Amino acid sequence: MKKTVSANSFAKIILFGEHSVVYGHPAIALPLYSVDVNATVIPANSGQWLRSRYFDGEIQQLSENLLGIKRLINWILTTLNQTNASFTIQIDSKIPAERGMGSSAATAVAITKALFKYFDKPISRDNLLQIANVEEQITHGNPSGIDTATVSSEHPIWFVKHQENEQIEFNLTTDYLVIADSGIKGKTAEAVNLIADNLIDEADEIQPLITDLGHIAHQAKTALQRADSKLVGELMTTSHHHLNRLGVSTPVLDKFVDLSIANGAYGAKLTGSGMGGCMIALVASSQQAQHVANILRDAGATSTWIQSFKNYGYTVEDADDNIG
Ligand code: PMV
Repeated sequence: MKKTVSANSFAKIILFGEHSVVYGHPAIALPLYSVDVNATVIPANSGQWLRSRYFDGEIQQLSENLLGIKRLINWILTTLNQTNASFTIQIDSKIPAERGMGSSAATAVAITKALFKYFDKPISRDNLLQIANVEEQITHGNPSGIDTATVSSEHPIWFVKHQENEQIEFNLTTDYLVIADSGIKGKTAEAVNLIADNLIDEADEIQPLITDLGHIAHQAKTALQRADSKLVGELMTTSHHHLNRLGVSTPVLDKFVDLSIANGAYGAKLTGSGMGGCMIALVASSQQAQHVANILRDAGATSTWIQSFKNYGYTVEDADDNIG
């Protein structure tokens, strides 16, 4: 009898470069260690089952909105010659869905890692990203790949589409990030399409904003290396204003950004696709993080999270180690 195995993956936050990343510019993104998803594969007497907050039943009966997960599991079982194996996959997730926190990618990564582990097969990080993207192609259409790359990373990353992502030198280890949910679902495909349409209709206005978001990511990389919190914060706020001009902010996200800065944050911005979803604020201390989180909740945030940067320091590790 096989043994029960588990694997996890993290929520992600894009610090810099959402949308511009689609056009080949770099982005900086962080795994959120405190907000994770766990996939456990348990031997079963017969059948293939999934238990999660959205679905409890046979994998082949997975509903339309979970088609990406179904295809992913079928793809893995075919690749590993295990289409007749019997098991239950149990998903325990702290990541809210459709809030720009990478819930679907994190679930795909955790399932992929857990199934490879269950069938005693090693998997390299490159392979993991390719396989998990089977799900993302279906759920998100044409993703840049930043979600799967971040949720499967142990470190903050520098991400460029179609290139190997690399660990970034991240020295803001005393600061905190406040994350607030606007309570409105993010709309990734709609936001990406809006910008693509505007790039055709209003190229003179839109193209410079995209290009500048790319420059900002480069400046932020240096600022993070130098632990220049003030500059990182300013670059976040400038990014937010650019994203607003690109048409993907909302009045609620704007209000949360303004309130965070008025209450002492170094800077703040929406994160992810926008048109809903979450925003982030960079603050100097745990007390200040708590204060800003309280203010945002009073202003209508449906959830807030506080992430310390204590464990985000740069470590030299081979990012392409086997992780199976
Ligand atoms: O799905 P979200 O909200 O995390 O946004 C993904 C980031 C985008 O740059 C908007 C799209 C992409 O594929 O990179």
